[in-house]
Amino acid sequence: MSYDEFGRFIDESDNPNNEIDRQLTEEFIPTYEGSTALLVPKESLRTKVPPRTPAFFNPAARLSRDISILIYTSFIRIYSNQFKNGQITLADAFSGVGARSIRVAKETPCIDKVILNDLNPIAIRAARESARINNVADKCLYFENDIHVFLNARNSIKKERYVIVDLDPFGSPSQYADSLLRAVTDGGLVSVTATDTAVLFGKYPKVCFRKYYSNPINCNYSNEIAVRILISFLGLVAGRMDLSIEPVFAHSHRHYSRVYVRVWVSSNEANKLSDNLGYITHCFNCGDRRTHPFTFQLPLLCNICGGNDRNNKNERKIHIAGPLWIKPIFNKQLISDVLYIDGNNNYGAGSYVSNRDVLVPPSKDYHSDIISNEHMLSEYYSKWSLPPPSRLPCLESSIQISSQKTFRQIFQLLHLASLELDDQPYYYTIDEVGSALKTSPPPMNTILERIAQGGFCGSRTSFRPTGFKTNASMEEIKKLL
Ligand SMILES: C[S@@+](CC[C@H](N)C(=O)[O-])C[C@H]1O[C@@H](n2cnc3c(N)ncnc32)[C@H](O)[C@@H]1O
Ligand SMILES: [Zn+2]
Repeated sequence: MSYDEFGRFIDESDNPNNEIDRQLTEEFIPTYEGSTALLVPKESLRTKVPPRTPAFFNPAARLSRDISILIYTSFIRIYSNQFKNGQITLADAFSGVGARSIRVAKETPCIDKVILNDLNPIAIRAARESARINNVADKCLYFENDIHVFLNARNSIKKERYVIVDLDPFGSPSQYADSLLRAVTDGGLVSVTATDTAVLFGKYPKVCFRKYYSNPINCNYSNEIAVRILISFLGLVAGRMDLSIEPVFAHSHRHYSRVYVRVWVSSNEANKLSDNLGYITHCFNCGDRRTHPFTFQLPLLCNICGGNDRNNKNERKIHIAGPLWIKPIFNKQLISDVLYIDGNNNYGAGSYVSNRDVLVPPSKDYHSDIISNEHMLSEYYSKWSLPPPSRLPCLESSIQISSQKTFRQIFQLLHLASLELDDQPYYYTIDEVGSALKTSPPPMNTILERIAQGGFCGSRTSFRPTGFKTNASMEEIKKLL
């Protein structure tokens, strides 16, 4: 039996802390992700769709968290001198059980303080316990507030902002964007996940317009359109607050789109927002697609096939996506840092010169050859020997524990991004080129070689294994092949 400080009897079954203790003991289990032990709900490891109670944890989001660790680490390594005045802080505004932030605390020594927030007290208790198990409790601070209270309190009371803020809500991040952008410091980084893929991929255009001020298209390359709409939306919200944005990285998977964006306090830069935004027109008749600046005259007919001709009722309409971000979305310097590529395309450079013996690829020309030689990629992977974690403290998570498969997936994604023509906001797929030619499609290497021989630029895309980018139009591609 127990009593409170005034001598009143406490029925322990009513005590929320006891109930949380019980749930932690009975319903949670330790698991490993990266080199971090995490206390997670047992049920989340058993079911395909992770339950929201007693707390939310999605094991399938591991790839996204692995990538976060790499991007945050390189971001701080490259830009930490711009945040001299204070600690390097990361706020995980929807932390859940702390899968991302406790990993950051453990696996990125370059981040001084990690601040977790979640409305669910059980999730926060689990995160505290994980921090204790991993010996990073001193680095962590916890809040159980509504996200707006959490993000705005920091800004208005302490006049300090976070260097990195992560936003990983259920569904759309749209309604949190204002608070998010207010909470990040000048030059800081925000990482944002959107899981309302049906909306961003064009299934519900009206919802997309009201949430993201943009029209999507449901087409082959909707996943790239989705991240570009998300970036444009952040730019539009930032612009209202005299902030400007600079995309750093983006990726898209079946269930989510995720973007990394730097935020600057600058109304001058914010004025340039419209230069970065534009539209894509896509003709569903002939596959022609084009980028247009923000101020363009709506084309009524397709330049190529006349699609959208009102006199011809069988013609399908040209679809228009946008406004969306039409300028580059990858900070190649940062991606190269993650991959250890220096200015001469040497791997193992920068702060990891001492690790050359384990990181150097089989051929010095590997980097330039990769587009045309798929075999080299697999050769490189098979020759990649994982470095001892003690020698790569910032990367130990992904390298030490991660399965070879996840590691290859991340490497391939980042590598393709480092070579991607990302000023082209759309891609083509091998299959659609095949059906346009009415033959079986040529292999990727042949397509890219012919594009280069024709004097055009070409690259693969990180958004799809069978996708490629080029400044050649569909008509020109067909002629070249
Ligand atoms: C998708 S989960 C976060 C997952 C976590 N980032 C991870 O990597 O495991 C979203 C979280 O937001 C929390 N949440 C929902 N509404 C909230 C609100 N208004 N304020 C704060 N947290 C909220 C939920 O409790 C849930 O843990
Ligand atoms: Zn057309």
